[in-house]
Amino acid sequence: MITTAIIGAGRMGRRHIEMVRQLGLELVGVCDSQSAALVLAATDQAVPEHLLFSDAATMLSRTTPACVIVATTAPSHCEYTCLAAELGAKFILCEKPMAVSLNECDRMIRVCTRHGARLAINHQMRFMQQYIVPKRLLASPVLGGLTSVTVVAGNFGMSMNGIHYFEMFRFLTDEPVSAVSAWFSDEHVPNPRGSHFVDRAGSIRLSTPSGKRFYIESGADQGHGIVVVYGARYGQIVVDELAVTLRYSARLEAHREQATTRYGMPWFENSEPIAVNIIEVSGSVLTALLQEKNYPSGEDGRSALRTLVAAYLSTENGNRTVDPRSPDMPAARVFPWA
Ligand SMILES: NC(=O)c1ccc[n+]([C@@H]2O[C@H](COP(=O)([O-])OP(=O)(O)OC[C@H]3O[C@@H](n4cnc5c(N)ncnc54)[C@H](O)[C@@H]3O)[C@@H](O)[C@H]2O)c1
Repeated sequence: MITTAIIGAGRMGRRHIEMVRQLGLELVGVCDSQSAALVLAATDQAVPEHLLFSDAATMLSRTTPACVIVATTAPSHCEYTCLAAELGAKFILCEKPMAVSLNECDRMIRVCTRHGARLAINHQMRFMQQYIVPKRLLASPVLGGLTSVTVVAGNFGMSMNGIHYFEMFRFLTDEPVSAVSAWFSDEHVPNPRGSHFVDRAGSIRLSTPSGKRFYIESGADQGHGIVVVYGARYGQIVVDELAVTLRYSARLEAHREQATTRYGMPWFENSEPIAVNIIEVSGSVLTALLQEKNYPSGEDGRSALRTLVAAYLSTENGNRTVDPRSPDMPAARVFPWA
């Protein structure tokens, strides 16, 4: 049994306790700086008292786990990931956003590599039906290839949720993002995780070297829902992520090669099931990490974070287009994300 410890016993950390048990791993410790969180782990998740710690270094050196899950809020992701690698963990699953600066992302990757630890960031997109099914449909001759993705959402926060969609777009296109433009809302909505955290709402446009486009429209003045529309050469897919429905439509085969201007050619419609379970998909990330194949890596987490930093730069510089791969990105700048 792989010994596993969890740092951070908030909402997500408690889900990870359940996930660790479902996967049959051996839970050797749960740590949180707030005693109220540890009380909840004991009462709601029945974690025995001798497995509860208030200090991560003490827990890691006493229990020497093979696997560590970092589920605190973002300002401590780097510190705990590096500590876990330095104290001998071989598998580290860190929550998103990966860190609060690009320098921290680099350090996490460097320290994990130096100590032979594998690092995954909990962007579960590649294991979620709501993205796996569109990827399969878009690759089929029926849809004829992805051209654009548009996400219209309530104010779900760019560092809280937007960043997941950057990784989703990378998963769908297998390409890096080469251009980012953003228009953040002026209004700041209080952050549910505390007043020291600040997230942004607004609009973002991304594109890839081959010309695939991605849009988020999630203004501070929008208060409901997440709908994603995937545009393709011959059709469209519409996913309502809250209602958990996917339907798609496409031109009938006989009309496929007519000009794109003929957007109303005879078509068919269909739907597919896309059930989702957050504990299960995080479990898929951890399983992939433990099997050392096809997991969202530190590099993937850093790419998503670079895209988010580029969106800040664009907003602050007259909405100009920013290449997130540029060596001029502000690596030392620290962001107030949760
Ligand atoms: N992957 C996903 O789908 C997903 C979903 C929700 C949240 N998250 C991420 O998971 C992380 C945790 O989110 P949450 O909703 O559980 O937040 P939360 O506020 O409910 O819990 C965070 C916990 O970490 C503890 N903590 C914070 N700093 C600490 C430190 N330095 N040392 C020890 N304990 C510390 C807090 O006391 C708290 O109990 C965030 O980074 C969030 O963005 C990811």
